[in-house]
Amino acid sequence: MVQVAVLGYGTVGSGVVEVIEKNNAVVSKNVGEETHVKYILDLRDFPGDPYEDKVVHDVSVIMNDPEVSVVCEVMGGVGAAYAFTKQALAAGKSVCTSNKELVAMHGPELIELAKANNCNYMFEASVGGGIPIIRTLLCALTAENISSIKGIVNGTTNYILTKMEKEGADFNEVLKQAQDLGYAERNPEADIEGHDACRKLAILSSLTTGKNVPTDSIHTEGITKISAVDFEYAVDCGMTIKLLASSSSTSNGEVLAMVAPFMLKSNHPLAMVNDVFNAVFVSSDMLGDSMYYGRGAGKLPTASAVVGDVVACAVSNGKHLPIEWSAKNASLASLDDTEFSYYVRGFAYAKDDILKAFPGCKTLGVKHSYFAIVTAPMKEKDLNVAMSALHDKAENKIRLA
Ligand code: HSE
Repeated sequence: MVQVAVLGYGTVGSGVVEVIEKNNAVVSKNVGEETHVKYILDLRDFPGDPYEDKVVHDVSVIMNDPEVSVVCEVMGGVGAAYAFTKQALAAGKSVCTSNKELVAMHGPELIELAKANNCNYMFEASVGGGIPIIRTLLCALTAENISSIKGIVNGTTNYILTKMEKEGADFNEVLKQAQDLGYAERNPEADIEGHDACRKLAILSSLTTGKNVPTDSIHTEGITKISAVDFEYAVDCGMTIKLLASSSSTSNGEVLAMVAPFMLKSNHPLAMVNDVFNAVFVSSDMLGDSMYYGRGAGKLPTASAVVGDVVACAVSNGKHLPIEWSAKNASLASLDDTEFSYYVRGFAYAKDDILKAFPGCKTLGVKHSYFAIVTAPMKEKDLNVAMSALHDKAENKIRLA
């Protein structure tokens, strides 16, 4: 019998219990023995809940129970979750988590601790919700040199951008709708400013390079500056706008990692990923391009990924499954010397200044009180100089993918 403890009985935690108990036949079959939830750790009580008798308030009950071999940390945060994860791993209990913040911050240390104690730290649910992207990178694409990863890894912002495109609505209007529907948090900063996508990219990038890519080394922009008129221009060019988490190897072996809105051709596979869906587009040398698509958030998709890890940990039975993610930082490329073509939108009255600032640009014309262009390929540092010289005559820029 495999006994599991779940730390945190919120949305994902209750999903984990539901998946293990409701899909028990398939979960136990894949583990090879009966698998059940023995404990649920939470500060609260849940009177009337079908699993209320499993709730405990003292984590030491779990840590001191030798029958518990797998712990699901679905509390979130980097305080108690970090302490409990270390305690569990030190006791030889494998830990499965959806906690991207903790994985991005302490991944190498926790993997090392798992290795030292012949158990596992698994985090499939931390990126792309239910999409098995981490197992794909670690177990399936192992014959590949991966040159780049581009992902839509935040459902909230993808929902907002999709609505803006389809309804011609402005950012703030759609954000409010998304909050009313419960898709966006009351405090949506981590999503709309790109921080959530940045943590997920740090994890993907570290796994593909084998070195640590810290979140604070990733250039991160959110979607708050995108407006309805940017979508009008994008549609005219046969393009759309997506928040991409992108990591690629440069010719001199550095890693260029960034989260930012990009304009991409409407026939690009990522352009077709809409609403709360996520997708990760991987380019590698033998396979070529491949894309992994599905529900990037939500109770049961995320819980399913956590329980997939529970099965893997239970089957490994005391054997550490190696994950290459060194504590040594990867060498990060500077964005300054990277070239892109840029969409630049300014005010119609400043048309001549904008044309002068970007020689060789393609004009997209006047719309409402705006004027927009697409630049020839240029370095980021040169774009920044030109944008600063325009002061507030230019309002937004978006890189072309
Ligand atoms: N806030 C996240 C999103 C939840 O919108 O994608 C899943 O990580």
